[in-house]
Amino acid sequence: MGDTNKEKQLAALEAAKLVEDGMVLGLGTGSTAYFAIEEIGTMVRNGFSVTAVATSARTEEQALKLGIELVSIDDVDSIDLTIDGTDEFDPHLNLIKGGGGALLKEKMVARMSDRQVIIADSTKKVEKLGAFRIPVEVLPFTVNYVKSMIDDSGGKGHIRMDGDEFYLTDEQNYIIDADYGLMDDPYGISDYLNDIEGVVCNGLFLDLAEMVIVGEGDRIVTYTREIEEEQVEQDAEDGRLHG
Ligand code: 5RP
Repeated sequence: MGDTNKEKQLAALEAAKLVEDGMVLGLGTGSTAYFAIEEIGTMVRNGFSVTAVATSARTEEQALKLGIELVSIDDVDSIDLTIDGTDEFDPHLNLIKGGGGALLKEKMVARMSDRQVIIADSTKKVEKLGAFRIPVEVLPFTVNYVKSMIDDSGGKGHIRMDGDEFYLTDEQNYIIDADYGLMDDPYGISDYLNDIEGVVCNGLFLDLAEMVIVGEGDRIVTYTREIEEEQVEQDAEDGRLHG
């Protein structure tokens, strides 16, 4: 197994220790989440009882093979714990996600989760978000409009392709990968993207992760976000929603 894969597996096994009997789980998508789902499958085989929401068709298929009981995202009010991967995370534990195209359900489960735990290999850690382009999921008939709105705002939109065809998400939407360079104000960019008609979801996950568990060589390093009460109260007064 390559070094990066080993780091992913280390982080995933550590995160799986947070799973408790009876929990409702959010199952992420990608090569790192894969290892966590395998481990949860082993726990289920050993007698654990959990219910899970899958964030993509790929994850659903894996979970079903492992005998993990699945429910639809719309059939749960809240989720106890979500374990998911990331494309980048910064020192505030803000993320760029959606490299695998599953950002819509990934963001929904993140918002619905009491605990959002991110697992990553050491290449995902950055000082500033933005070397990885921000995936923006859009309704198909708005793709050129949204791209022009991104280009007009100092970014550069790249329509994601799958060979000669537009890449399609599980929900049959398109993705524009938006390059804003390294970002000083990801909140402003996220708000701007969310305001464009046709945007279904953007891949900036701000103030959502509680913890990032990283495999660094043979070590596991855990970063925890301190939720600043004052800031939370202030945001509630402003009626401002991040992310
Ligand atoms: C999928 C995601 C993934 O979590 C992200 O792309 C990381 O993937 P990997 O674990 O394969 O590096 O956001 O939409």
